[in-house]
Amino acid sequence: WPAAARRQGEDILVGGVGLAQLAARFATPLYVLDEAEVRERCRAYRRALPQAEVAYAAKAFLCGAVAEWVEQEGLGLDVCSGGELELAVTCGFPPERIILHGNAKSPEELASAVRLGVGRIVVDSFPEIARLAVLATADRPQEVLVRVVPGISAGHHASVRTGVEEQKFGFSLDSGDAADAVARILRQPHLRLVGLHCHLGSQIPDIAPYLAAVDRLVPVMAAVRDRHGVVLEELDLGGGHAVPYRAGEPAFNVEEFGTLVTAAVARQCARHRLPVPRLTIEPGRAVIGPAGVALYRVLTVKHTPSGLTFVAVDGGMSDNPRPALYGSRYTAALVGRESEAPLAEARVVGRHCEAGDVLVPSVGLPADVRPGDLLAVPAAGAYHLSMASGYNMVGRPPLIAVRDGAARMLMRRETLDDFRRRDIGR
Ligand code: LLP
Repeated sequence: WPAAARRQGEDILVGGVGLAQLAARFATPLYVLDEAEVRERCRAYRRALPQAEVAYAAKAFLCGAVAEWVEQEGLGLDVCSGGELELAVTCGFPPERIILHGNAKSPEELASAVRLGVGRIVVDSFPEIARLAVLATADRPQEVLVRVVPGISAGHHASVRTGVEEQKFGFSLDSGDAADAVARILRQPHLRLVGLHCHLGSQIPDIAPYLAAVDRLVPVMAAVRDRHGVVLEELDLGGGHAVPYRAGEPAFNVEEFGTLVTAAVARQCARHRLPVPRLTIEPGRAVIGPAGVALYRVLTVKHTPSGLTFVAVDGGMSDNPRPALYGSRYTAALVGRESEAPLAEARVVGRHCEAGDVLVPSVGLPADVRPGDLLAVPAAGAYHLSMASGYNMVGRPPLIAVRDGAARMLMRRETLDDFRRRDIGR
């Protein structure tokens, strides 16, 4: 839940607005985003790492308002497609504070990044170096980082562990590819190699893997200096900081991260007689995840012979694919109605046409939960709407920002008309 969320009677207030009230006004399923929580999380990063560049990872969720909030809070932006890039720049995000990622950026995406003047492009493959070498010119030189594979395994699921060999991102340090990439970039007159990048994985609860990454990458920076006489000025450690999804789960300690990582970089640099580089981090989930709440209406309740209770709601895997994709665990709470009934174990499922459409496999809900009830799922701000799909033509839910007791719609509900507009074959 957002830090300032609180129970008020049968409702939960987020940003000073009751969730049941929002459901009545905007209908369900509905996503709610607490602006103050997003901004405070940005500020916590700036406080913990005053010298570092904090680039919000747009893939967690991006829309115009969010781009504006993180820009105002002094963060940079990590984008991984031409779409995210265009949206950000169109909304006035300064291109020089944008970092472009991707293992397979298209030639068009690279061209528009160079044309728009993005701060850094994180180079991820040899073909990309060749493409960039043509695009960058004396008038439009391009700063780049090289993404390397540090050989560190971290993250909540195999699908998000990008710090190891045998996955598609980055240049291997062990095979010599990373050294080769550095050498090739340095031969290009209009590419300026400013540093190294790595991203370990996502939903990482502890700091140790990041310290290991510092220990692995600073010696590589020293090797670049020794071999080419080039002193790299930036070290980008990616994102991945965990958030709690259910009561009792640990939150990533941003303050301690700032202290320990800064010290580790200083120590390694002293050891290798390197000037301390600018540190960059790219948190996505930890900035926006806890600021979001998903709201659903219960449509049916069913009891199986073996004693399971299925509580089916009006959303599901089309707005939150994470449980189906990664086995992610969530909680849910009844809002909008006071219940004296004892808690009973229930499985919250979605409305989609497959049995794997489970939102919360097991949660205690009042035993009298019934159609018409509202369920709120916290920690819904990251990788829900950004990964939402058109499955079953249900339509993606709207997003409502709340702040100081007021609500405003950031994104409208996807309608059948939206689907029809793309269906042009008849
Ligand atoms: N930087 C890079 C290069 C990344 O690839 C990512 C995430 C981030 C930063 C931000 O990571 P975060 O701080 O949000 O963990 N859909 C998955 C997560 C995929 C993350 C992909 N890359 C999920 O829902 O768990």
